[in-house]
Amino acid sequence: MRRVSAEPWTIRRMVKWMADDFAKRGIESARLDADLLVAHALEMERVGLYLDLDRPLMDDELAKVRALVPRRRDREPIAYILGRREFYGRSFAVSPAVLVPRPETEHLVEHTLEALGVRDEATADPAQDAEDTADTSDTADTSDTSDTVNILDLCTGSGCVAVTLAAERPEVHVVGTDISADAVEVAQQNAESLGVADRVEFRVGDLFAAVDEDARFAAVVANPPYITDADIACLDADVRDHEPMLALAAGSDGLDVIRRIAEGAPRYLETGAPLALEVGYDQGKIVQDLLRAAGYDDVVVHPDLSGIGRVVIGRRPAE
Ligand SMILES: C[S@@+](CC[C@H](N)C(=O)[O-])C[C@H]1O[C@@H](n2cnc3c(N)ncnc32)[C@H](O)[C@@H]1O
Repeated sequence: MRRVSAEPWTIRRMVKWMADDFAKRGIESARLDADLLVAHALEMERVGLYLDLDRPLMDDELAKVRALVPRRRDREPIAYILGRREFYGRSFAVSPAVLVPRPETEHLVEHTLEALGVRDEATADPAQDAEDTADTSDTADTSDTSDTVNILDLCTGSGCVAVTLAAERPEVHVVGTDISADAVEVAQQNAESLGVADRVEFRVGDLFAAVDEDARFAAVVANPPYITDADIACLDADVRDHEPMLALAAGSDGLDVIRRIAEGAPRYLETGAPLALEVGYDQGKIVQDLLRAAGYDDVVVHPDLSGIGRVVIGRRPAE
């Protein structure tokens, strides 16, 4: 008797089935998510799927893919399922203990580097370097650390800001603090895997509590929790039900943590040094006023790519 074999689960069929299933459940990025999950289970790059769409899945591969489906149906963020997220061109480990790094936060890094005026190695002028070296050769001391730029990253989470600042500029040293010991563990892992653990030190503590009293920084930077209590209920289920509430909620006006940072930072900032904060979509002007009222100079709001004021920077005035 002739056996009719069931239609095999090829990559093409599996991706389509999963994308349709997610779309039916209202997941907006259904097709992308299906691609990413199938690629993850098969341990290949997303582009690899398209080179082998008709490859049938082996039983163990099918089991791996199927195990991921209920997690995404439950709105678990793709970054947690994959255990990784890209930030500023680098791959960061993430876990449910940390906020998933967001593209908006890349602006915080960008504007902090700009406000510091630290040199971009990629665009540095080698001729100018040679001149600078010649000018200082008779006084140069190779143990001199005066070029070191010390930065404090509060609310460090995955360490994406701290690690990126250090990875972008070799003269940058960062102290990163977070109230969550689990988050700090992830941050430490990222500093190690991205090769900057010798210049980034993480500590557990409530904002400035873990910072040495006599430490002074060329910048204090933070992407703090800034969501209002009322807005928490309106967040996407991916965020509200899976990302750490500690990373999101900041009181009735969303400014509980920002106020404490604005108040505490001057004591740790060198004169003229910037405090750089990421803020909520409607908080740019409010935080600008708050920093001005707290005595900061030159307070500027920088918009993100959608024109929303996202990064507020003020400078510690002279005494
Ligand atoms: C919005 S997340 C930012 C994480 C990371 N810097 C980023 O940009 O993706 C805020 C972080 O602040 C931490 N946090 C909340 N309250 C804190 C406090 N009082 N002191 C220190 N860290 C705090 C949370 O644990 C969370 O990791």
